[in-house]
Amino acid sequence: METEVLRTDPAAPDPAVIERAAELLRTGGLVAFPTETVYGLGANALDPAAVRGIFAAKGRPSSNPLIVHVADPSQIANVAAEWPETARRLAERFWPGPLTIVVPKKPGIPDEVTAGGETVAVRCPNHPVARALIAEAGVPVAAPSANRSTELSPTRAEHVLRGLGGSIDLILDGGPCPGGIESTVVDVTGDVVRLLRPGLVTVPMLEAVVGAVDLASRERELPVPVARSPGQMAKHYSPRTPLRLVDGEDITDDHLEATAAGKRVRSLLLYGPTAMPADPTGYAAELYSRLHELDAAGLDLILVEAPPDTPEWAAVRDRLTRAAARE
Ligand code: TXA
Ligand code: MG
Repeated sequence: METEVLRTDPAAPDPAVIERAAELLRTGGLVAFPTETVYGLGANALDPAAVRGIFAAKGRPSSNPLIVHVADPSQIANVAAEWPETARRLAERFWPGPLTIVVPKKPGIPDEVTAGGETVAVRCPNHPVARALIAEAGVPVAAPSANRSTELSPTRAEHVLRGLGGSIDLILDGGPCPGGIESTVVDVTGDVVRLLRPGLVTVPMLEAVVGAVDLASRERELPVPVARSPGQMAKHYSPRTPLRLVDGEDITDDHLEATAAGKRVRSLLLYGPTAMPADPTGYAAELYSRLHELDAAGLDLILVEAPPDTPEWAAVRDRLTRAAARE
């Protein structure tokens, strides 16, 4: 199929463009759209055939469930069977925004969305294009990141086109995604809130709202082939070029050594004129875009200076660790 690309102002989405994309979603099509985290690949979450199309386009294992996106919190009742008190407080504080909440699912949510499970992941995004699209479609929208399975997530329309061009109906080009890495995912079905994927909503931010968050279970499940949150598979978010995470004091030596061995190598540093932003939010916003660029540069090796081991950097470190995993 031919993939159409339509541009729209991210701040003031063009109604005609949104209407065309919403119509495609309502009739079973696949539409990539910008969110405040990364581009998503959307389908009507209530249409099993359309949802199967997402898995086919991405080459994603059917055991990995999808996030259901809603336009505003009032739509939750159509997706979740229960909305625990912790979910209510987290949504009140962080929605619309980069937090995904796992809750018991409504019977009407197809097995394709939840990978046959009894829970569903719900998120209310905070990007004007995403919100306008979901509201206009009038249905909840299942959307994983708009990349082929295990590859880097897209933060620009051209990343989506490179990975999925020819396999999806439409890409809404709303420019670069401001957040740059995927949402934080929490499970609120147990006694304590469990972190399934770190993100821009950090653990200290979560704990300020719901008290202690369980991180240990996440460690225990890493890495697993079919996990409760299979985005935790070790190899994920990877460039094709080998990538190594290195401590700051070693990176110059490693770079010289690789060069001496005849390798074409580039280093992503934390300090210096060509360095990445030295704060976690700025770093996250640029990370995938820089990795997409380096990956297209025909290198033998990418060296990345490891950011500090603090809660604020946890999400960035998580993505870098996965990018470095070769299995
Ligand atoms: O920022 C984001 O979350 C982006 C944008 C498009 O919203 N979406 C995204 O989707 O990153 P995806 O499919 O690439 O990652 C969703 C993660 C996966 O790790 C998946 O296993 C987990 O959420 N997940 C989805 N449903 C789940 C469920 N019912 N229980 C546990 N984990 C779930
Ligand atoms: Mg993904």
